[in-house]
Amino acid sequence: MTVVLEARHLTRTYAVSNRLFAAPVTVKALVDVSFTLEAGKTLAVIGESGSGKSTLARLVTLIEEPTAGALIIDGKDLGAVGSDTRAGLRRQIQIVFQNPYGSLNPRQRVGDALEEPLLVNTRLSAADRTHAARAMMAKVGLRPEFYNRYPHMFSGGQRQRIAIARALMLQPKILVLDEPVSALDVSIRAQVLNLLAELQEEFQLAYLFISHDLSVVRHIADQVMVIYLGHAVEIGDRHAIYASPQHPYTRALLAATPVADPDAKKERIVLAGELPSPFNPPTGCPFHPRCPVAVERCRSEAPGLETKHGRAVSCWQV
Ligand SMILES: Nc1ncnc2c1ncn2[C@@H]1O[C@H](COP(=O)(O)OP(=O)(O)O)[C@@H](O)[C@H]1O
Ligand SMILES: [Mg+2]
Repeated sequence: MTVVLEARHLTRTYAVSNRLFAAPVTVKALVDVSFTLEAGKTLAVIGESGSGKSTLARLVTLIEEPTAGALIIDGKDLGAVGSDTRAGLRRQIQIVFQNPYGSLNPRQRVGDALEEPLLVNTRLSAADRTHAARAMMAKVGLRPEFYNRYPHMFSGGQRQRIAIARALMLQPKILVLDEPVSALDVSIRAQVLNLLAELQEEFQLAYLFISHDLSVVRHIADQVMVIYLGHAVEIGDRHAIYASPQHPYTRALLAATPVADPDAKKERIVLAGELPSPFNPPTGCPFHPRCPVAVERCRSEAPGLETKHGRAVSCWQV
């Protein structure tokens, strides 16, 4: 087992004014999140919209700096290395977004889009760059004649293949996938997920797979981290979490997920209310206002992650 990425107590806050002329308030988008990611494995990050998933993606890909905490890539602490080492480590982590249309330049041909990372970061000759781009197109299932086409000429699934190909051009060790199949038709999703599984196997890629969809995560994750209002509330082995979710929030998410077997017995927990405003987060456990099993202590005291039933969970009631 090779740990390629370690996040230690990652925290990210933003200063925002929620009213005109009001003094800025601090929004805690991500609070004290820690995990490790291994080569060839997938850690899925699950949470509702606004829970901090994309913030985590931006920190891990070094698009933004954490407010506190550390990132260790390939055994090196990002906060302690020089700019050259940092640039090299940055190349090890690439990102694929939900909407490939937004990340592909509409006026750039597919071939040029794939060659660009090589042009910027390597000294490969034009012929070698073209060769590498064509080889990568074949790997992700794009026909060679697509090389000269523009993004708008493709379907959503094909565009996501292009985005994946582009992310792999510099041979990264880690891919951050931020809702990579959420914008795709259900019929196309499985194809793109299968492609990701093949590429992971071939290149021993580590995936940080962000999703709000537990039925997708069930098929691809090795580990699952559930986040709520920026807090990791449950982290563990996928089988353990799907077989016996412990945190009331995880249980509610799973209860709301359709299962293949309609006769399967399911707990009925309905999530009451909306995700609270991060401007005014609840005291105590962040989940307590929506929690069906909250007690007095949950209102005043925040639980920390503790190992219970073979996974880490933060809940006084487990
Ligand atoms: N650049 C930013 N400035 C201010 N607030 C932000 C910024 N980015 C994210 N947030 C806030 O942080 C919280 C988490 O957002 P995000 O990471 O985008 O969640 P998710 O991807 O899970 O939907 C949200 O409340 C969001 O409004
Ligand atoms: Mg997001």
